[in-house]
Amino acid sequence: MTSTIWKPILKRGDQVLYRALAQSLTDDIRSGKLPPGTQLPPVRKLASRLKVTVGTVRRAFELAMAAGLIDAHVGRGTFVTHLADMRTNDIKNGSRLELIDMAINKPAPIEAGDLLARATTRIVRSDNGWALMDYRDQSGFSQHRRTIAHWLRTTGVPVHAEQMVLTVGASQGLAVALATTTRPGDKVFVEELTYPGVKNLIRIFGLEPVPVAIDREGLVTSHLAALINQQNDVRVLICMPRVHNPTTRSMSSARKQDLAELANLHDLTLIEDDCYGPSPSRPSTTLFELCPERTFYVSSLSKSVAPGLRVGYVVASERVFSAMSAISQSMSWTLPPLMVELAADWIRDGSADKLAQLRHEETVARQKIVSNVLGNHPYEASQWNTHVWLHLPEAWNPARFVESAKNRGLLVVSGDLFSIQPRTNISAVRLGIGSPATRELVRNGLTIVANLLHASYDFADVT
Ligand SMILES: Cc1ncc(COP(=O)(O)O)c(C=O)c1O
Repeated sequence: MTSTIWKPILKRGDQVLYRALAQSLTDDIRSGKLPPGTQLPPVRKLASRLKVTVGTVRRAFELAMAAGLIDAHVGRGTFVTHLADMRTNDIKNGSRLELIDMAINKPAPIEAGDLLARATTRIVRSDNGWALMDYRDQSGFSQHRRTIAHWLRTTGVPVHAEQMVLTVGASQGLAVALATTTRPGDKVFVEELTYPGVKNLIRIFGLEPVPVAIDREGLVTSHLAALINQQNDVRVLICMPRVHNPTTRSMSSARKQDLAELANLHDLTLIEDDCYGPSPSRPSTTLFELCPERTFYVSSLSKSVAPGLRVGYVVASERVFSAMSAISQSMSWTLPPLMVELAADWIRDGSADKLAQLRHEETVARQKIVSNVLGNHPYEASQWNTHVWLHLPEAWNPARFVESAKNRGLLVVSGDLFSIQPRTNISAVRLGIGSPATRELVRNGLTIVANLLHASYDFADVT
């Protein structure tokens, strides 16, 4: 790290003073006069040397910070970032700055090409290999449904093949459940923050969402009870009791019990999105277990085994099996039989458990990096999934945080994206730590986040 007596040349022209100063800073970083890691003079000192106000220097630094060129660290000072160097190269070489993507929510990456090669070779070379290229309806998958249902029972979810319709991921599972239980114009209860896919489905199906409050124990059942008393025309609730996206919270046992009782009392149908749920080492009750007759249980192998399989399922009472089958068939006609065969094969020979274990270990390792880098900043996380719900200090507005992170080379998602209500200001962002290819990139991305959080305190101090 170098320290410099920076002597900016202010070419003011028709610019206001702080912009001219920011421009001079940018020029000096680009020319290499201020290499990455260089410490800049303190705001007050620079202001007095240039005979400008502290506010002018602060605003210039803020502009450079928003552009990702400098970072302020509490107690240590302001430094030229490493991304600034990349940006300088960027400009020199005409190449693009490579962004670290923490916007998309992927499971932790693993490498198991050998398992894939072995299983697909075995499958395509078998006697019925070519038959996997044909159309197939749900009855054609009965053996596969039995295999998946048996596997789910080993994870503690008591499902039977006769209740299970296979779907293209949990995404289609949610669509099938909503299409089976609602008509356009219906109201549905939904957690006030929810997975954007659910928001989209509600819109596409022409439903009216009725937001239910959530707190640290998940869906607030007393609020749901109050809403039911006010609006007795809502028949369906969609929720994520085990690892909520985006907050990562899980409903307490007491809350799940209360919810089951409310559903029974008021004849409410429950759509349980358990996308992160099934895992042999995870003892926790599902709503489906508590009220199997009124729950549509939706999940997939996406997060635990492989998202590219696109094998999901919706499980409900046998009474609605035919309706669900018909709806799923009308949406996608069939699932790719080769992928369903691969999923069943991996379950039968233990590969699915092995892949789930590897993903879990990578998730735990990445969550450890989160705790090391973010330290005491308030955030929520779970060892069962790969996103982090980061609470922002008051000084940061989420849209500005997302923009500043992007300027430094990191993509994250604003908390507002998850809100059911249109005009909210959720002071949090979601960080997807499964998406970067390596742990090092996770650490780099989180360091950008930590620096931004520190910077907000630093700049708030200098007034
Ligand atoms: C809560 C939740 N439900 C459903 C899905 C969709 O899962 P799939 O990839 O199986 O369609 C996701 C994907 O991120 C999710 O986060």
